[in-house]
Amino acid sequence: MPETKTATDTASLAPDFRDDLDRIIAPYRNERGALIAVLQKVQEKLGYLPEPAIAQVAKAMRLSESEVFGVATFYNFFRLKPVGARLVQVCRGTACHVRGGPRILESVKKHLGIGEGQTTADLKYSLETVACIGACALAPNIVINNETYGRMTSKKVAELLGEG
Ligand code: FES
Repeated sequence: MPETKTATDTASLAPDFRDDLDRIIAPYRNERGALIAVLQKVQEKLGYLPEPAIAQVAKAMRLSESEVFGVATFYNFFRLKPVGARLVQVCRGTACHVRGGPRILESVKKHLGIGEGQTTADLKYSLETVACIGACALAPNIVINNETYGRMTSKKVAELLGEG
């Protein structure tokens, strides 16, 4: 699973993000067809696609901001909002579903007070569901910042998200 940048990571990049983006965009400047690849690299760097980044990409690639925004919203692997310091991903694959995944998802939602695709106001947690993560034997699973926790129960959710 690819590493996911969190709000903590992006905060430290904020002041000089324009230079970082210039370096990322430079090799693709005249390749309009490379927009998705560029946006992926920007997201890898910043953790999400903030509006100023979309504007900078559009200008450098000679596209309108609405074209770039349209691509960023079309593909669900692009994020337009920052990710919390702890990204909680609940597996919605078949094995996890059959072994109580929906109940685990409800527990996480209740504990954090947010729904799927949302981030807590203090940027501590984000919640999303993911396809099978390949650890079906341990179903139901959740992943927190790329670390998998198997055989989840509502009690374990409360322990893991204790301070949430
Ligand atoms: S279905 Fe959840 S790990 Fe495979």
